[in-house]
Amino acid sequence: MERELAMEIVRVTELAALKSARWMGRGNKMEADKAATEAMRRMFDTVSMDGTVVIGEGEMDEAPMLYIGERLGTGVPPIVDVAVDPLEGTDVVASGQTDAMTVVAIAPRGNLLHAPDMYMDKLVVGPSAKGCVHMEQTVRENLEAVAKANRKPVSQVVAVILDRPRHAELIEQVRAAGARIKLIPSGDVAAAIQTAFPESGVDILLGSGGAPEGVLAACALKCLGGEMQGRLLPENDEQRQRCIDMGVTDPDHVFMLEDMVAGDDAIFSATGVTDGSLLHGVRFLANGRARTQSIVMRAKTGTVRFVDAIHNLDRKVGWND
Ligand code: FBP
Repeated sequence: MERELAMEIVRVTELAALKSARWMGRGNKMEADKAATEAMRRMFDTVSMDGTVVIGEGEMDEAPMLYIGERLGTGVPPIVDVAVDPLEGTDVVASGQTDAMTVVAIAPRGNLLHAPDMYMDKLVVGPSAKGCVHMEQTVRENLEAVAKANRKPVSQVVAVILDRPRHAELIEQVRAAGARIKLIPSGDVAAAIQTAFPESGVDILLGSGGAPEGVLAACALKCLGGEMQGRLLPENDEQRQRCIDMGVTDPDHVFMLEDMVAGDDAIFSATGVTDGSLLHGVRFLANGRARTQSIVMRAKTGTVRFVDAIHNLDRKVGWND
């Protein structure tokens, strides 16, 4: 994939962020998500690629657009798999809270795990702790390994965990090990990325979230040189059958980063919708201008760009559609 594709993809997440940010704090997560989805779909039509959605808004009969199997782009090479989360943190936008963003990742065809819509247990660390942790180790062992790798005592390690009742036991284990915890209301893709930025104050992500979001996070961590592992958590017979259909018969099967994103070529882009620890949210300025901040990265080179853009909304492709 050529480097120019990264800048084309960031235009997709930017327009989605601009459109969905209009719904910040307005109590309507469906409209916020719809606005992001329609904007992404609109902008993908201009991107020079032959893409197929592998992580999307749902199956073909469930989602009007960005459904799994939908073809995206102008139809010219490169031939790629596309993973989208048009609005990561729908509730967050609806309630006007922090850390919502629009997310796209692409990789050469066949390189992304077709993760089913179910929970995934996740373990994420930044580059400094890569190779030191494993899901088969205990929580305490992993925290101690991260502490050693990040050259600090366990008491200074911070684990970021989604604030959910299902994580009560995990939280107890982290506390028993002596580490600190950052509980987040939503958005484990942004949290996963934070583990790769020491200034974020986060060392490790633990706990379960969406499996599709897991693949998006894996793309980001591949670009950042970090590590991610995941274990699917089917909750009923239908979900267990989906795992079997994927060839996953061992319920304890651990997906390593390479299983989720194969090869060394992936592009990841996210644009802030609401202010977050990683990115500023959309700012609507005077005279029809708006400002966005995005992170766009390529695994092949490891380049991480923060793109700060001022948009003239009157002239913006897709804004008035
Ligand atoms: P939405 O974008 O659908 O609102 O979900 C965001 C999110 O917090 C993800 O980041 C996370 O993986 C998942 O939801 C967790 O699911 P749940 O809210 O059911 O615990």
